[in-house]
Order: sequence, then C-alpha cells, then structure tokens
Amino acid sequence: MPGKQLLLKIWQWFDDRSGISKMLGPIMKHPVPPTGWAYVFGSATLFAFAIQVLTGIALATGYVSSAGQAYESLKWITNEAFMGRLLRGMHYFGASAMVLLVGIHMIRTFLTGSYKFPRELNWVVGVLLLLLTLLMGFTGQLLRWDQNGVWSTIVAAEQAGRAPFVGPAVARFLLGGQTVGGATLSRFFAYHVFFVPAVIFVMVALHLALVLRHGISEAPHRDRPVDPKTYRAWYHAMLEREGVPFWPDAAWRDVVFGVFVLACVVFLAWQFGPPTLGSPPDPTIIQAYPRPDWYLLWYFAVLAQLPPGTETFVIVGAPLFAGVCLFILPLVFNSGHRAPSRRPWAVASVLVIVAGVGSLWIEGERSPWSPDFDARRLAPMQVNSSDPQVILGATLFHDKGCEYCHTIAGSGGERGPNLSAIADRLTQQQITLTILNGAYNMPAFASSLKPEDLSALLAFLETRTGPKP
Ligand code: HEC
Repeated sequence: MPGKQLLLKIWQWFDDRSGISKMLGPIMKHPVPPTGWAYVFGSATLFAFAIQVLTGIALATGYVSSAGQAYESLKWITNEAFMGRLLRGMHYFGASAMVLLVGIHMIRTFLTGSYKFPRELNWVVGVLLLLLTLLMGFTGQLLRWDQNGVWSTIVAAEQAGRAPFVGPAVARFLLGGQTVGGATLSRFFAYHVFFVPAVIFVMVALHLALVLRHGISEAPHRDRPVDPKTYRAWYHAMLEREGVPFWPDAAWRDVVFGVFVLACVVFLAWQFGPPTLGSPPDPTIIQAYPRPDWYLLWYFAVLAQLPPGTETFVIVGAPLFAGVCLFILPLVFNSGHRAPSRRPWAVASVLVIVAGVGSLWIEGERSPWSPDFDARRLAPMQVNSSDPQVILGATLFHDKGCEYCHTIAGSGGERGPNLSAIADRLTQQQITLTILNGAYNMPAFASSLKPEDLSALLAFLETRTGPKP
C-alpha cells in the first residue's frame, strides 16, 4: 500500500533526524516492578496538571488582569465566550482533582514507605509540589476578583503579617502594597500564570527524573525491611527476575485512570459549571465572611475557631511545624519496614490527620462562626403570642440582624449563644446591657435602636423561656 509506505518513510525520516525513539524507547520499555492500581495517583496528578495548563491558557486568552475589568471579563467568559462556562468549570474541578490526587498520592507513598532509601529526595520534591499546588489554588482564587477571593487574600495577608520579624515584609510582598488592590491582582496573575507553573514544571521534571533514577518502589513486603546497604543490589536483581516493561504492562492503568479523571472533570464542569462569582469586591462591605474554596476551607475553620490569644502561635507555628515534619520525614526514617502492617504508628497518624482535616472541613462547611444571612423571620407559630409588642420584637429580632447570629426556636445563625430560653438565664437588665453595649463578637446596638425598638425586643426575649424546643 503506497499510503502506508509513505507514512512509514515520513516516520523513519522524523525518527532519524530527531532521535525520538532512541530517546523515549528506553523510558517506555524500562523494566518496573509489577504494581497495582494504588500506583496510579502520581500520573493522575500530572494528568490533572495538564488539564489545568490547557484550560488555563484558554482562560487567559479572555481574562483581563486589571482591577477594573477582571470581574467583568470573567463574567463575559462565563456567560458569553465560546465554551467559556465549560472551560472555567474544568479549570475549577481540575484544580480540585489535582489537590485531591496529590493528597492521595502522598498518602499512598507514605503508607507504602516509598519515601525510604533511596527515594528520600523524591519525597522532598513531592512536598514542594504539594505546596506549589496549594499556592496555585490560593492565587487562582484571587483572580476571580469577587468578595470571597479578595477577602480570603486579605485574611491570608493578615496572617502572614503576624509572623515575627519577616511577617510585615512578606505581607507587603504578597499584596504589592498595604492592602489588596490593582497591584495585588497583577502580582497574583503573574504568580499564578508564569512563576508558580514554571517552578512546577521544573519540579515535575525533577520528580520524574528521580523516579527514573531510582525506579518505581516495589510493593512493600511484610518481611522485607529496607536496608540501605543491600537495597539497590536487591532491587536490581528483583527487576531482572520480576520486572515488566513500563509500557504497556504498567502504564496502561495510568492511561485508564487518567482518562477517567478527565471524564470526571468534564462531567462535573458540564453538570455544575464553575463556582458562581460572588458580588464584586467592595472594601467598604465588611460584612463579607470570606470562604475559600473547599481545599483551603478546613484551614479556615482552624483560624475561625482559635481561642483568642493563641492565633499568632498557631498561625505561624502550626504550618511551620507541619512543613518541617514533612521535609525531614524521609531523612529521619529512611530505613526499616515499609509495609503498613509493620508501621502501626504511620497508619494511625494518617487516620488521625485525615479524620482531623475531615471534621474541620465539615465545620468549615457549616461555618457556625459566621452569621447566617439567610436566616428566616420567625413564623407566627414560633413567636406564639398575640401581644403586638412581642410580635414587633420578633420582627425586629430578624430585621436588626440579631437572628443572623442567634438561634431562637431552631431558626437563625450560630455565631452567638442560642437565645431560645434566654429569659431563664438573664434578667431584663442583663439583656438590655448586652444589647446596648454589645459583647465579645457582638456589635453594640445602643446607637441603632430606638427606645421603643428596644422595649419591643425585650418584650419578645422575655417570652423565650422553658426547655429549648
Ligand atoms: C454579629 C453577631 C451578633 C449579632 C448581630 C447579635 N449578637 Fe447577640 N451575641 C453575639 C455573641 C457572639 C454573643 C456572646 C458574647 C459573649 O459570649 O460574651 C452574644 C450575646 C448576646 C446575649 C447574651 C446571651 C447570653 O447567653 O449571655 C443577648 C441577650 C444577645 N446577644 C442579644 C442580641 C440581640 C437582641 C441582638 C440584635 C439586636 C443581637 N444579640 C445581635 C453575637 C451577635
């Protein structure tokens, strides 16, 4: 067949001039230990990163990184640009997938002890990649340039500012000034689009080069601890005996799972679309309670619930401690058993961390510390009185915003105490003082309540007695 002949000739020419099969052949065919589905998460993370690069480039063609236009340009991308909604959705769910996969990949390498000799550096580079991934999520959120994004950044900069000595300088560097503004947006755009991805590319190359240098870690065995003196010789002998060519024997799983990840991202993006843009940022609205995207939300829950006074210690100390632990882990524990069944402490610490982050995440989702602006007015049945004063009081309880923070009869926010039986606990005078002077985390209402409003509120609160419904 002449067509086939021609194609073959073209390929031979290309291969001869480029040397591509000489270069890639050994990599594709190099022997690897037989592994299973647990080993697909690293390549899947890379796959998710590729989705991010491609959708990111597409989004960058329509996005304007100036404070005056960013929000509008995103609205245009979402609502009008060709496939814009799908692309934004894919970029969002791709980011979620990348964070999730990098986390699972890390847990897997930890549980199978793959970070031990001689793959210590691989782990260290991996930790850097985890940090860079989170940095991408954080900088990307500001590019949305809505209330949530802007306020989350302000909160983060405030935290950074608390670090001793370097704090203020770091915060200034982050924001490009004293507060979030056009300079911050330009900076975050540059980090998000040029700087951090460039570092990720280099680190990924290093990570993969190290995988090739040391080989994929074999599945751990109960009776075979790592001994740095003999491990390499043993590993190579094992490869001779049991190794399979990387392509296709091992890599087919990576391809299948990667395609599955892509399908999930496309499906979610198509089904749910990108995160809705909040209102445009307005620094005068301080009633914004910023909520970062889900993968950073758990950390927000930590911040929201710190007892006052411990903030600086926790905000600066905890991430530093966690980071140092992750970096030195492979240097301290580089030999010994790899099998999870021989490392109960390792398994237990993963369970504790996953459960801890999980419950913080649920707390973050509920965010009982932030006012519930959707709180509904109490129904007449819940007010349960025919006294016009009490009914007016109940209305004011909602209209003055008390209900955003206080629950009565099962309705309202949870930032302040439940007031369902407040009359049993406090005298009228105590209640009056709290309302007028405010309290810790409660604004003072002395200047915004007319005397008759106050008496109506008091009349209403006086009726709230008895067992909590
Ligand atoms: C921004 C949230 C917020 C708003 C709005 C708010 N409160 Fe509070 N309130 C709190 C918090 C938090 C406390 C607890 C303060 C403390 O523990 O010192 C509190 C305490 C109280 C208490 C004392 C409760 C106790 O068990 O000691 C009363 C009574 C009260 N608020 C009534 C009101 C009324 C009436 C309004 C509306 C006019 C209102 N609050 C608006 C957050 C709020």
